[in-house]
Parts: sequence; structure tokens; C-alpha cells
Amino acid sequence: MKSSDLKLKIDSSPAWIAAVLNDFDHFLKDHADAERKASGMAMSFVAKYPDRREIIPELIHTGIEELEHFRLVYKIMEERGLQLNHSIEKDIYIDKLLKTMHSGREERFRDRLIIASIVENRGFERFKMVSDHIEDKKLADFYRMIYLSEAKHGHVFVDMALNYFPAPEVFERWEVLASLEADILSDLAIRPTLH
Ligand SMILES: [Fe+2]
Ligand SMILES: [Fe+2]
Repeated sequence: MKSSDLKLKIDSSPAWIAAVLNDFDHFLKDHADAERKASGMAMSFVAKYPDRREIIPELIHTGIEELEHFRLVYKIMEERGLQLNHSIEKDIYIDKLLKTMHSGREERFRDRLIIASIVENRGFERFKMVSDHIEDKKLADFYRMIYLSEAKHGHVFVDMALNYFPAPEVFERWEVLASLEADILSDLAIRPTLH
């Protein structure tokens, strides 16, 4: 088993992509927030685990890539005359996922990395749907670049976990958390947002 064999348990619904395409400006604003938060998340790993030297360079690299995504999404927003959201809505999906973490220091670290991987995989799946369904060729290309990058991040976070935990443990826990993710995703209201 390797990180690229890991698969989410359910696909996003056709209703979700329909909602996104129906209010794409709303989606873009949420997407921009998501990229900025992803960058912040990578850097918060650095702040929380300064002793995990094996993964710090990759975390910094990921933080920069997410910030670059933010820059590019904001550029598209500017072209469309859109402004960033004033207050950022609570991300119920992320909140619920983080509640599934075990409590010991090591287990929490492991789960944090696995959840990051699952969130990146979901980003890959949803941005790919956007790229596949959107009519505008430029946006389809842009979202293709984004989903390829998020797919890579999905693997990167698992590989980080494999630095510290045995592979069977990481992959088993990934499967358990991916099943919980499927339940959490199914319960979300359909909205023109990433989650
Ligand atoms: Fe990103
Ligand atoms: Fe990412």
C-alpha cells in the first residue's frame, strides 16, 4: 500500500457541483478563504511541532504553494470585481473532522496529518469536478492546475505521517477517518462552497 492507493469513500453529489456552477462568484470567495486557511494550517503545523524537523521543509513548501493558490484565486476575483469575505463562516466540515482526533500527543499529531491528507483529497475531488464541468476554458485549466496540486498535497501529508508511524497504522487510521469523513460530508447542506 502507498499513499496514492488511498481513496475517499464517497463522491461529491451532482447537486453540489450544480450549486457551485449556479453561484460561481460565491464559490470563488469561499475557495480563496480555503486556500488562505490551508496555507495557515501548514504553518500552524510548523508552529505546533518545531521538533519534527523531518517535515518542516515540506510544510513550509506546502504553505507557500497554498498561499500561491490564494494569490491566483484572488487575481480571478479581482478580474470579476469580487471582494474577499469580511468574516469567514465556520467550516463545519473541518470542525467535525478535527473532533475525530484522538487525544494523546502522538496520536493527535498522526490524526492531524491524516485529516490534512483527507481534506486535500477532497479538495482534489471537488476541484476536479469544477474543472470537468465548468464551460469557461481558462477556468477549467486553472482548476486543473489546482486539483493536480491538491492531489499531490494529499500524498505529501500521508508521507509525512509515515516518517513517524508504522505504515499499517497510518493506512488503517486513514481508512477509519475517511469513513467518518464520508458521513460528515453527507450531512453537509448543499451550498456553493468548497465544503
Ligand atoms: Fe491549495
Ligand atoms: Fe492543498
